[in-house]
Amino acid sequence: MSDFYTLGIETSCDDSSVAILKNDREVLVNLISSQIDIHTLFGGVVPEIASRKHMEAINPLIDLALKEGKLDYKDIDLISVTKGPGLMGSLLVGISAAKGLSLALDKPMIGANHMQGHICANYLANEDLKPPFISLVVSGGHTYLAKVESFTDYEVVGRTLDDAVGESFDKVARKIGLGYPGGPKIDKLAKKGRADAIDFPRVMLDKNSYDFSFSGLKTAVLNYHHNLVQKGEEVNKEDLAASFQEAVVDVLVRKSIRLLEETGYDKLALSGGVAANSKLRERLKEELDKRGLRLYYPDIKLCTDNAAMVALAGYLNYKNGESDDKFMKVYPNLEL
Ligand code: KG4
Ligand code: ZN
Repeated sequence: MSDFYTLGIETSCDDSSVAILKNDREVLVNLISSQIDIHTLFGGVVPEIASRKHMEAINPLIDLALKEGKLDYKDIDLISVTKGPGLMGSLLVGISAAKGLSLALDKPMIGANHMQGHICANYLANEDLKPPFISLVVSGGHTYLAKVESFTDYEVVGRTLDDAVGESFDKVARKIGLGYPGGPKIDKLAKKGRADAIDFPRVMLDKNSYDFSFSGLKTAVLNYHHNLVQKGEEVNKEDLAASFQEAVVDVLVRKSIRLLEETGYDKLALSGGVAANSKLRERLKEELDKRGLRLYYPDIKLCTDNAAMVALAGYLNYKNGESDDKFMKVYPNLEL
């Protein structure tokens, strides 16, 4: 059988990315053009700037991806593009590019769910991973605990009721002057601090709930910082970062373990930008090892937004009989 090439396009937030997937696992190219430098100047993602930057980047990236993959446009068998969730203007750039290509090349296209993409990143990084397993998706915009029953069936059992995990990292980092994106900076600073220095709240909600709430923790951290500054006392940023991170990780670990125990599933796949967090990986690994369960997570490049994961999500759905056409819409609030 001849090889099948999927072109993946991802423009849901502040990274423009184009990838080429060969068959179901081989990433030939995964190009990412980051806009972080410009958004850093504003302390967060500015939607209008994000879509303009995607406009500039997308066509040259597609061209470059094909060159690097040593392929021609006519070799592409499927175009998979993120249709949501994400910023409306940013998503539209990717979808318009995909529709243009699909019509010009007369090749099928499919809209992929960005969150399903984050889960799929784990298949790319770990060829032996197969459903069923529990997925913990933690990113700048989302926090989900889901049962993955097959390559295309998911049941979300818990989600955040307010801030996403990455968002709370970003907001706390901004408060203590670390800049955007805050997650990697807090992760690094926390290594020099004491995780038990400050007793921040662990919001577990109802004891049977798998939902999350991080806004109370964020407020507690901001108040703690504000009170010290008001009194003219110095803030130990290392301790603050370590204690905040510990509180977040505690909640994520406890809920994930409880769901693993309840379902009897023996695998947990971590994904999304916050999956890059070293403390989260370390604590999950420790707790899973103790119980003889296995932890999976992708490489850093596959943890954050990228088009390889989108290519695979689309490929799996296409092989499952789904497809889209030139009337496809964007879904800024698409659920998993
Ligand atoms: O998945 P992603 O690239 O974008 C979304 O789809 O939201 O995730 C970006 C988020 C940001 O909030 C960033 O601060 C966070 O992931 N992040 C981290 C780390 N690296 C990235 N958070 C905690 N620790 C890290 N090492
Ligand atoms: Zn993402």
